[in-house]
Amino acid sequence: MALQEEINKRKTFGIISHPDAGKTTLTEKLLLFGGAIQVAGAVKSNKIKRHATSDFMEIEKQRGISVATSVMAFEYRDKKINILDTPGHKDFAEDTYRTLTAVDSAIVVIDVAKSVEEQTEKLVAVCRTRQTPMIVFINKLDREGLDGFDLLDDVEQKLGMRACPLSWPIGMGKRFQGVYNLYANNIRLFSAHGKQTDDDVIEISDLSDESLNDLLGEAAADELRSDIEMVREVYPPFSKEEYEKGLLNPIFFGSAVNNFGVKEMLDCFVDIAPHPLSRETDERMVEPTEEKFSGFVFKIHANMDPKHRDRIAFMRICSGTFERNTNYFHVRQKKKMKFSNPTMFMASKKNIVDDAYPGDIVGLYDAGNFKIGDSMTEGEVLHFKGIPSFSPEQFRFVNNADPLKSKQLNKGIDQLMDEGVAQLFTKISNNRKIIGTVGALQFEVIQYRLEHEYGAKCQYESLPMHKACWIKTDNKEALAELRSRRKNNLALDKDGKLVYLAESAWTLKMAQDNHPEIEFLTSSEF
Ligand code: G4P
Repeated sequence: MALQEEINKRKTFGIISHPDAGKTTLTEKLLLFGGAIQVAGAVKSNKIKRHATSDFMEIEKQRGISVATSVMAFEYRDKKINILDTPGHKDFAEDTYRTLTAVDSAIVVIDVAKSVEEQTEKLVAVCRTRQTPMIVFINKLDREGLDGFDLLDDVEQKLGMRACPLSWPIGMGKRFQGVYNLYANNIRLFSAHGKQTDDDVIEISDLSDESLNDLLGEAAADELRSDIEMVREVYPPFSKEEYEKGLLNPIFFGSAVNNFGVKEMLDCFVDIAPHPLSRETDERMVEPTEEKFSGFVFKIHANMDPKHRDRIAFMRICSGTFERNTNYFHVRQKKKMKFSNPTMFMASKKNIVDDAYPGDIVGLYDAGNFKIGDSMTEGEVLHFKGIPSFSPEQFRFVNNADPLKSKQLNKGIDQLMDEGVAQLFTKISNNRKIIGTVGALQFEVIQYRLEHEYGAKCQYESLPMHKACWIKTDNKEALAELRSRRKNNLALDKDGKLVYLAESAWTLKMAQDNHPEIEFLTSSEF
């Protein structure tokens, strides 16, 4: 098949949500539609459950599961759909941000009772900065929740979206009767744990039709009529172009666990979601249709077997055709590499692939060659943009607790940082190492993994710190002044970039006021 056809076939997206909104359940239903799994329950939630914070074995188990569910591919209506898993747990938010650089669109799941939650807000903000097209699925309509219009207000105000409802709920919770499809003008009646066949769809050409009263009851029919009138007045009509530009967000209502409203959304997704798009690099735009292969690593995962230290690097193909056993150019390391067993994931199964196309994600077995953000090409020097590193929120000094194992400790820390588990900073004044993370959980994961995978022991020392800011300036004098006046606050990140460590919001503001020629950035690109 020609490259263009392969590209047109593919849709690569991520599902984002606050934990418990129903991401895993929805993923599973999508895979069932695609025939990628046969039974419910086959997709394990990769969420780190609350009680797991101090249960290392549980963390390890979850880590294993999340390798298997990192990418799930299925076929539906002649399309190859790649779902990229995004951890909902906030301690793993950076992992999710990076994964979102590898998708072309996203589906946002919202719990009808909880409306927009914190994690959803953060993840949607990341997608919005990249103009990622997003569809919203409001889930759990079989439960009592917020009124449809209040939900859409939240979606618009808290998520900054422009809502365009494509379906509308008829009742809710115990009174939930189904959804009205605003564009096909039909009603799908709700049945718990349904199969979603077309038999339960009722065509309604005119909402004023009396038969609607018999179908839904007079009160519910009247409510639907006035709701739809209002929806049509208040919300914009659907436009594919605006959706593609990230300026309009189709909204669906349903119940994932009951497989209700999922097929409508999937069908719409298949019709409108973009196929693999071009990607920006520092050097130029890369089009998926270019003949030469290119791709970038957005995630690195330690292998499930702690005795083998090899890892899996997840690479998104951006252009051309990737082939097994072919020499490619590792841009950062300036060396050629080939892969004898690149892997693709189909639900929980792994398959070795001979070739892969733009939009596909391949897993590459790696003995320590890759860092997040690395690009592979056929020889051209390209650095893909948009794989940022954000300022950590928690900081600790890391000390060696076993002097005989300092080599192992350094190697372990280096490799865990390449995986993006946390960030390492080295203080300029005394060379002490500082680990920065988004949440407290990573400190425990690091300590555990250093011991079990590298035979090294570490101890932490608390370090009350507010933010790490990357320093940007063209003004050499201003930089020299900062270096001499703020030596104690300066550190280098893993790539040798200069970072200012601020103890508090106030000290950061002081530094900004005192050094106006310097930009203090809270995110950097890897
Ligand atoms: P997550 O991946 O976003 O964290 O959420 P997940 O799918 O694991 O769903 C969280 C909980 O919400 C699960 O219940 C799931 O069954 C339930 N759920 C998902 N969709 C719906 C829905 O449409 N209606 C209702 N009422 N519940 C829904 P749980 O009790 O945490 O787990 P489980 O024992 O049911 O698996």
